[in-house]
Amino acid sequence: MIPPPNPGFKNPRAKFNFVGRTCSIAGVGSYVPAKVLTNADLEKTVSTSDEWITTRTGIKERHIAAPNEFTSDLAANAARLAMQRAGTTPEQIDLIIVATITPDMPFPSTACLVQQKLGAHRAAAFDLEAACSGFIYALEIAQQFIMSRTYDTVLVIGAEKLSSIVDWEDRNTCVLFGDGAGAAILRNRPNAHGLLTAVMGADGRKADLLFMAGGGSRCPATAQSVANRLHFLRMEGRETFKNAVQAMQTAAEEVLRRCEIDISHIKCIVPHQANRRIIDAVGQRINAKPEQFFINLHKYGNTSAASVAIALDEAVSCGRVQTGDLVLLIVFGAGLTWGAAVIEW
Ligand code: UT7
Repeated sequence: MIPPPNPGFKNPRAKFNFVGRTCSIAGVGSYVPAKVLTNADLEKTVSTSDEWITTRTGIKERHIAAPNEFTSDLAANAARLAMQRAGTTPEQIDLIIVATITPDMPFPSTACLVQQKLGAHRAAAFDLEAACSGFIYALEIAQQFIMSRTYDTVLVIGAEKLSSIVDWEDRNTCVLFGDGAGAAILRNRPNAHGLLTAVMGADGRKADLLFMAGGGSRCPATAQSVANRLHFLRMEGRETFKNAVQAMQTAAEEVLRRCEIDISHIKCIVPHQANRRIIDAVGQRINAKPEQFFINLHKYGNTSAASVAIALDEAVSCGRVQTGDLVLLIVFGAGLTWGAAVIEW
């Protein structure tokens, strides 16, 4: 049981002067492709075991998109659900932000392709690249547009087809990732609950811990770059792990401090779903109780920018998050990038 708020607890919304405007999450949705790839399936293709993957990561299976199913399709499916739950029509959307590291193609943006698929022709649209931290970066940008009165309704999506950039011969990485998408409709709704505040951070000095070398201006696609397997992601797992724990702790503490609340006031923590051991270590450092965390990485693996978006949708759908609850999102990813956000649901 999560303890009730301390006697001196003040609603953190009082700290932020919203002058009649809030950035509320009016609806969330998610989508994962039908095909499931289990640890047992991977045992047949690389030198690994269900036992290793489960004990080192907590992952049991992940979903893999069909060859003719692209990031924009996953994104549009998640978005349709979020729009339906929010009661939002395509014409009402002012802006679409898609956070992804696996766009359908380098340009045009996946957000433009999603705009076309949804028929949201009034909306401005752009992609955002902050790797696994992308969903919180996108939420914060959406919040800025809404609070500044530039837009009233923003569709934020985290979507990835990571199976397209995973080296299926590299056991260090191929067991970790999956495909999927999560979406949220953010809207100005006076006096409604909403996104209270978010923090974002980055450290480009550690860009070489997790990256894909090929396909950009530095190393365009050539027969040689393909032969050298440069179009697949690479990761220094152990160093990335250490940095993830540290950065997620710092981000969580900073966002709680800004809201002037304690971890015990948080009903549900939705962390980036990369590794069960990372989540446990962060929980210990921020004095959270294990039951405060919502974890679904056993089903999906690490879906990068989609990860917290899918988890938030599932946490809401299964009743773990109720109206008025405080929710803490914490993310970490390549860049390095990290972030945290507090939402009053
Ligand atoms: O989303 C962005 C953020 N991503 C992350 O935060 C991921 C962070 N990193 C991790 O989650 C972990 O570092 C991993 C799960 C990737 C690896 O776990 P680890 O405990 O750090 O293992 P390790 O990399 O230190 O490797 C331990 C051993 C190695 O063998 P030796 O050199 O000790 O003989 C690896 O070769 O495990 C071996 N290994 C595997 N064995 C079986 C690596 N991958 C596998 C595998 N199956 N799939």
